[in-house]
Order: sequence, then C-alpha cells, then structure tokens
Amino acid sequence: MSGLEEGLRGLDSGGQLAAVRAMPDHLRDALWRIESARLEDGEAAGVLVCGMGGSAIGGDLAAAALGDRCTRPLLTVRGYAIPAWATPEWTVLCCSYSGGTEETLACFEGAQALGARCLVATTGGPLADAARAAGVPVIGLPGTLQPRAAVAYMFAVAAEAAAAGGVAPRIHPEIESAASGLEAAREGLEQRAAEIAERLAGTVPVVYGSGLTAPAAYRWKTQINENAKSAAFSAVLPEADHNELEGWSEAPGLGAVFLGDVDQHPRERRRIELTAELVAEQATAVVAVETEGSTPTERLLWAVMLGDLVSLRLAAEHGVDPTPVGAIERLKDELGRG
Ligand code: PA5
Repeated sequence: MSGLEEGLRGLDSGGQLAAVRAMPDHLRDALWRIESARLEDGEAAGVLVCGMGGSAIGGDLAAAALGDRCTRPLLTVRGYAIPAWATPEWTVLCCSYSGGTEETLACFEGAQALGARCLVATTGGPLADAARAAGVPVIGLPGTLQPRAAVAYMFAVAAEAAAAGGVAPRIHPEIESAASGLEAAREGLEQRAAEIAERLAGTVPVVYGSGLTAPAAYRWKTQINENAKSAAFSAVLPEADHNELEGWSEAPGLGAVFLGDVDQHPRERRRIELTAELVAEQATAVVAVETEGSTPTERLLWAVMLGDLVSLRLAAEHGVDPTPVGAIERLKDELGRG
C-alpha cells in the first residue's frame, strides 16, 4: 500500500486517489469519445469554452498547451453570458460535468440565440437535453467521477473543439504520448507529492505559475480548496511581481509554490528565482517545482497530476474526505430555490 493510500484509508469515500491515478486512462478514453462524436471541422473566428469550476479549467489548460500553435483565440468563459463581442462566426463549447450548472446553461442559450456553432461536453442533465433538442453534438462523459476529477476529459475536449473550429492543430498524438508519459511518471509523482505536502502542511499555499504553468497553478489552488477543504491562493508571474510581492512583507503561515517550465520566457524564469528568494524571508515554506515531460501537453498535465496528488495528501494530513463539497452543494441548493 502506498503512503497516499495509507493516509487516505477510511477517508477517500469517492475514490479520488483512483481517479487521479486514472488520468492517463481518462485521456485515452476522452480521445475515443471525441472520435465517436465525429465532429465536423470548420473555420471559426475563435473558440469559447464556457463552464465553471472543474468544467472550465480544461479550456485554460488547452489554451496553455496549444500556446503559439493557436492561430485564433481560444478563450474560457466563466459566467452567465458569452461576451458581447462574440459573433455567429465563433464556435462555443459548453462544458458541464453534471449538465445542470446554471451559468453554463445560460451560455448555451446565449450561443444558440447568437447562431454560433455549439458543441457540448457533459454526462447528461438539462444541458444534454437542450443540446439534443437543438441538434447540437454532445461529447458524452462517464458519469462516475467528481466534476474536478474529469479534468483530463475537459482538457481533451477543449483541445478538440479548438481543432474542430480550425483555431489550432489537432494534437491527438501528443495527448496519447502524454498519457503514456504520465503513466510512467505516476509513482514518482506520488512520492514527490508526499514531500511537497509535508512542507506545505499547516501553511496556506500560494501557488505561482507563469506561461504554460499559469493554469496549473490555479488548478493546484482549486484542488487544495476542494479536496483538502483548505484556503489556498494562486497568482501569475510576472504580474504578481508588480503588486502581490509587497504583501509578502507580512505573510504569517503562507507557503509559496513556484511552478517552473523549460519553455517559460528566460526573464520569467529569472523572476521565479528572484521572487522565491524574496518571499523566502517571510514564507513558512518555499517549494520549487520544474515540470517534466517531452511536450507542452505532457508537462502541463504532469503539473496538474502532481497538484491533484498534493491536494489529496493534504486532505489526508487534515483527516478529511476529499470527495464531498458540502459548501458548494449548499450554495447550489439555495440558488436552486430562487
Ligand atoms: O469541482 C466541482 O465540483 C465544481 O468546481 C464543479 O465543476 C462546478 O461547480 C461546475 O459544475 P459542473 O462541472 O457540473 O458544471
């Protein structure tokens, strides 16, 4: 039994550890589901990925992994409306794991009213019903996960929407090779996650990313929030060097994490080094991580998988079950009442 399994024994009611370990399988299954949906290729002005929380992050991750390979915009929309500047020439992908998220349903309605090409990724619910009624292609997702554990699916679907909209090349081989790379890295990642969690235990983590790792930093934050039920924050360099850095002059109990990547601008890499040195004067812990992998997709998902494992390790440290998100459910219930 691994240290993580041991730590989560009796806590992991929804099998979050198994879900994170299965990320490589999720990538392969996502490709199969995408191919089965037989999306037609088009020439969109850009692609909008509409979603919230665990269903939105795939858009950010796909845009980061595709990077300069995007020839037109690939943007994530979190909220109730697609931007006023969007025209019918845009393609709109609506992602909702449950299919019941009100913001995403509103974006779907908005995209339909605009006459934009729509695509949907969901397990079912009102979003699947609305898509089917409107003749919109649905990429069906397996219904056995927590929304945030479907991150590999959401990433692959957003990358596919970019390709189907003609805004970026199709990267199926890169996704497949990332799946193999993550499989090979899995054991080492669990070990690494244990070491990082040990250093972050008892701190409020602040996770910094830049370029490729910017959405990974946000993913670390949200996974620590939801899985470990802990406060955590994230920020992006170089911007944080122009404001947040001053806040570290008084930083009781904060732990800083810096996510480095070989493709970051040399000045961003220098900023990471210097910022880490400066915050070390006040931080309870400073952790530097360098992504590993042979492609941007692999390195980005490597960072995501490591963060997910760190969040589970922190859940174990806090003695909490990573699955339930009671506060989020309560809020959704209240909103559902009007
Ligand atoms: O992780 C979660 O459970 C949330 O962040 C959800 O993804 C978010 O509330 C949106 O729900 P859904 O993914 O079902 O659209």
